[in-house]
Amino acid sequence: MNYEQAMEKLQKYGQTQLLRFYDELDDSQKAFLLDQIEAVDFGCINLEPIDFNKGHIEPMGAMKIAEIKERKEELKKVGLECIRAGKAAALLLAGGQGTRLGLDGPKGTLNVGITRELYIFECLINNLMDVVREADSWIELFIMTSDKNDEATRAFLKEHSYFGYDESHIHFFVQEMAPATDFEGKVYLEAKDHIALSPNGNGGWYKSMQTAGYEKLLDQMGIEWINIFAVDNVLQRIADPAFIGATILSGCEVGAKVISKVAPEEKVGVLCYRDGRPSIIEYSDLSEEMMYQKDENGDYAYNSGVILNYLFKTAALKRIADMNMPLHVAKKKIPYINDNGEYIKPDEINGNKYESLVLDMIEMMDGCMAFEVERGKEFAPIKNMHGVDSLDSAREMLKDNGITL
Ligand code: UTP
Repeated sequence: MNYEQAMEKLQKYGQTQLLRFYDELDDSQKAFLLDQIEAVDFGCINLEPIDFNKGHIEPMGAMKIAEIKERKEELKKVGLECIRAGKAAALLLAGGQGTRLGLDGPKGTLNVGITRELYIFECLINNLMDVVREADSWIELFIMTSDKNDEATRAFLKEHSYFGYDESHIHFFVQEMAPATDFEGKVYLEAKDHIALSPNGNGGWYKSMQTAGYEKLLDQMGIEWINIFAVDNVLQRIADPAFIGATILSGCEVGAKVISKVAPEEKVGVLCYRDGRPSIIEYSDLSEEMMYQKDENGDYAYNSGVILNYLFKTAALKRIADMNMPLHVAKKKIPYINDNGEYIKPDEINGNKYESLVLDMIEMMDGCMAFEVERGKEFAPIKNMHGVDSLDSAREMLKDNGITL
């Protein structure tokens, strides 16, 4: 793309400020900026609020822990067969920036150990290895990173010999980026020749997998199910045979691990039906009436909190891959250069990032199997250093589960 073409594209989107330092750049910087302008989709910048709370909402039941215990052998058998046939893969969503944690590096490189080293990535791989051993079969592990942390993630895992996971069963890919803007929707420059970009959320993972050419690999390997999971829940069970078995037997296109909320007010998204389709309602959209609504057993009706551990049917992913996902606006601190060309690292939130979220994929699926897990055994997310969902709380939970720190 040359300067005139770039200008034309930017005029169309009202973003010509991105070329304001162009004349000061050397040739390679100019080329870099023009390439970026060509690559970026400015159409994703939309400040019009989207009504994420549309439709008729109804509660969704879950397969409860008691039933899972009772049917454990039957469910596990189906799941283990699926794993041994190489039909189930795992996918680690590790493209986020972990801004709340404020770590200088990928979140998975955080050491949760106290008397020894024990990294987040290591905890996750240990958990997956339990299943690999039980099934006596490797599970293909995909790892999604972003431009911001790809190199560091690969280097860290390599340096630690993938914590014992067979490297030939690990497949990395990089997610897409989206422009970051001020509150008026004007895209920031991060440097005179660099547009401020940030990972485009965790909802674009299948598209990014396709872009990386992995769809073919999935077909060749006959992978029918993909268990996606967040990087920060150090206790979660991955490729859990009973969960896989329950989802397969349910006939649903997706399975979701859920926990019972500690209190109706707990700030987690809950599974529900929206106009008859499976959906997730975010805690901020849950009305007071729904929050305290009881079901026929006297339990809270909207009680199944999601923990970002889903099992998707590959065939369904292919069907929805080209469907548009809604973009959520996240208000964040975005480093930028001001009109004097000075680099500013803001202390306050100063703009928007645009993200698609996995939770919006649920609505595109035919049927969702909600599978309840024990919070104390499977939910220790590390979002912050201290307080709720933190390194401190996760350490306590790891200790409670007999893990030496
Ligand atoms: P979070 O919503 O907790 O975001 O991600 P985050 O980036 O890790 O942390 P904050 O909000 O900046 O503090 C949930 C999961 O989705 C992944 C994260 O890596 C984490 O596993 N994710 C998030 C991506 O893979 N890509 C993204 O663009 C965003």
